[in-house]
Amino acid sequence: MRGTILHFLKDPGETSDPRAWEVFEDGVLAVDAEGKVAWAGPAGRLPYRLREGARHEDHRGKLIVPGFVDTHVHASQVDIIASYGEQLLQWLEKYVFPAEAKFGDRAHARAVSGFFLDRLLAAGTTTASVFPTVHPVSVDAFFEQAAERNLRMLCGKVLMDREPYAPAYLRDSSTDQAERETRELIDRWHGRGRLGYSLTPRFAPTSTERLLTMVGRLHRDHPDLWLQTHVSENKDEVALVKKLFGGRSYVDVYDRYGLVTSKSLFAHGIHIDDTDRSRLADAGSAIAFCPTSNLFLGSGLFDLHSARRQKVNVGMGTDIGAGTSYSMLQTLNEAYKVTALRGRGLSAYRGFYLATLGGARALDLDHVIGNFAPGKEADFTVLDWAADPTLARRTDMAKTFDERLFALMILGGEQAVAATYVLGNRVYERQP
Ligand code: GUN
Ligand code: ZN
Repeated sequence: MRGTILHFLKDPGETSDPRAWEVFEDGVLAVDAEGKVAWAGPAGRLPYRLREGARHEDHRGKLIVPGFVDTHVHASQVDIIASYGEQLLQWLEKYVFPAEAKFGDRAHARAVSGFFLDRLLAAGTTTASVFPTVHPVSVDAFFEQAAERNLRMLCGKVLMDREPYAPAYLRDSSTDQAERETRELIDRWHGRGRLGYSLTPRFAPTSTERLLTMVGRLHRDHPDLWLQTHVSENKDEVALVKKLFGGRSYVDVYDRYGLVTSKSLFAHGIHIDDTDRSRLADAGSAIAFCPTSNLFLGSGLFDLHSARRQKVNVGMGTDIGAGTSYSMLQTLNEAYKVTALRGRGLSAYRGFYLATLGGARALDLDHVIGNFAPGKEADFTVLDWAADPTLARRTDMAKTFDERLFALMILGGEQAVAATYVLGNRVYERQP
């Protein structure tokens, strides 16, 4: 693949340390027969052995980056994106739970999962940590669709059993049943091809103590599983958790059950303090920063600066359907505005890092994806600097690569994704 190449070797931080990334203005990304990265560098230095017999694709004038990583998203909420007027708890009751109830039907779950994955690919996203629903068939449907597309994906049955916050029509009937179903799904899917299983208690208010205890035990028995949930998204939610569980903090409640580990991924983490952050950092847990969702539901402004200061892993999440775009570029655009409202900023370098290698690190997948280090899986996205007249004009005006990249981060979106590749094969191409 020939084009301009950008990838990251580490977190550029707030000062944008230039040793953190590599840009090859006229670069080549060489992919081997297994779909792994063979080499990435300046076109003029492509080793001779990689030229012979190779198939070429020319993306000169475009930007090739590692496939975006969406660290938090709900495949089950495709149909309720842009639902009006509520904050988290009422929004769940009014829009989310009725939509999720339909996923007990295998055909529906299959069709929506397929649509969802195609939207991710059209947005340049090749890996995600995904919530389906409480129904085991929703997990089967999702993983089947992901396997058909050869995608590296994390998912797991949503666990929710607490009255009245989990409604009767969308609830695990017993902890034993929930555990049995979870174990069956782990056996069927975990480690199959590029798929990984994530223990998925929805959040504390829909969980009994018995359920969280069961999840903690499963995780101790299977430390190689992932764990995903929500934490401290909304002030009413935080107050409810305090009422139901007590404890010093919401993070502390999860910690009590052994759910704060190096494989744990917490969506949102807006209303947390330094003690929580240092606990998350020590455990090696990660937070999914979901700005379009946080603004849409009026949840609050995530403190990216403090997370960085306290060395908490952070990835970007779209959180569809509270989030309003599948595009990681649009997500970074809103992330920039959240940091601006907090009197900070987010450089394009750090933004692109968070959406690629940072996301891979948050998901503990950086040994296989996230950049173009030789041997990693060659999932990547080709971005168009001139996708629409506004972006094209701004790109033309830009004097430096930094300036162009920032314009792409703010003005880009799905329209800027010219093509998406999975294991070196093109799986999406923008229609003219
Ligand atoms: N907290 C518990 N469930 C959900 C959900 O589906 N979306 C969001 N944004 N927050 C949640
Ligand atoms: Zn969510």
